Amino acid sequence: MNTGDLHSLASSITAVASPFRNYLSDVYEKYRLLDDGVVADYIPELALAKPEWFGICVVTKNGQVFDVGECDQLFTIQSISKAFVYGLALEDHGREYVNTKVSVEPTGEAFNAIVLDEKTNRPYNPMVNAGAIATSDLIKGKGATERLKRILDMFKRYTGRAHDINVPVFLSEKATGNRNRAMAYLMLNFGMVSERVEETLDLYFQQCSILVNARDLGMMAGTLANGGINPVTGERAIDERYVQDVISVMLTCGMYDYSGEWVYRVGMPAKSGVGGGITAVAPGKLGIGTFSPPLDSKGNSVRGIKICEELAKDFGLHLFNVAKPDRVLEDWIAGTGDADTW
Ligand code: DON
Repeated sequence: MNTGDLHSLASSITAVASPFRNYLSDVYEKYRLLDDGVVADYIPELALAKPEWFGICVVTKNGQVFDVGECDQLFTIQSISKAFVYGLALEDHGREYVNTKVSVEPTGEAFNAIVLDEKTNRPYNPMVNAGAIATSDLIKGKGATERLKRILDMFKRYTGRAHDINVPVFLSEKATGNRNRAMAYLMLNFGMVSERVEETLDLYFQQCSILVNARDLGMMAGTLANGGINPVTGERAIDERYVQDVISVMLTCGMYDYSGEWVYRVGMPAKSGVGGGITAVAPGKLGIGTFSPPLDSKGNSVRGIKICEELAKDFGLHLFNVAKPDRVLEDWIAGTGDADTW
């Protein structure tokens, strides 16, 4: 058995024995029967999701993976894709040029608001639909196929595995996405997207239809927590220079018109999606991926928010936390100290 196999075996054994896994199982059970929220149906195919689906995955900076519940259940990434495509656009064009097409200001509005900055005609940020469409328009490639492949290859670097698209969801959104179409043509009028606007709309609908699971979301967040390097595979997914840009905008804009309360109550850069996913980053510590389809009125997963709140509170993961947390993360993961007597 080589060193790498020994390392992964050690990690998995630690993971099985760690009190942290028992903690995750407890919070999973605490919220498993919570039945608030409604499964999205404005994209008809999304209504097929089962409200009881629920998975949690935590990936630490040093590559330990803790998952509970339905972490293999596939669902469409939806808006979570926006944060990562924003990072790819920054790599393609650099900060200065991307900022001429999309700002970094929270809107305080819903994710699908048709609003542009009145002074600059830019969409406010890359996390809302308008800003995401402008960001997707920036992804380089000779044509639709190459641009989509670059996005899929990027996600493979983040998660360590290849991804497919849920074609029925893509076609369902393409057929009903007239609000996004209106935004795209309004931005074309102001030069915020290029003439290839229809190709970009298809690219955006396809990126939102990429199939992921809760473990993928944990890996993606763990990669950002680890400075852009996947902590399990060791592969770099994003230029280190742009990790700060991505997680800063996730913190201020990632939860839409819940972002202010999110920063106040959770305090971790995060991105939600109407497919029921949330990915949250504790920089330098860990990434969290949750999946549960029932959404609140702002389009965020009800159970996912509860899990992130509990983890932030119990392990002091809030970016601005200065008090000693109730539970010392390292002890709970390693199974040392008072974690054994919790
Ligand atoms: O464009 C849309 O409306 C969807 N493809 C994505 C929206 C979304 O995920 C909002 N997040 N909570």
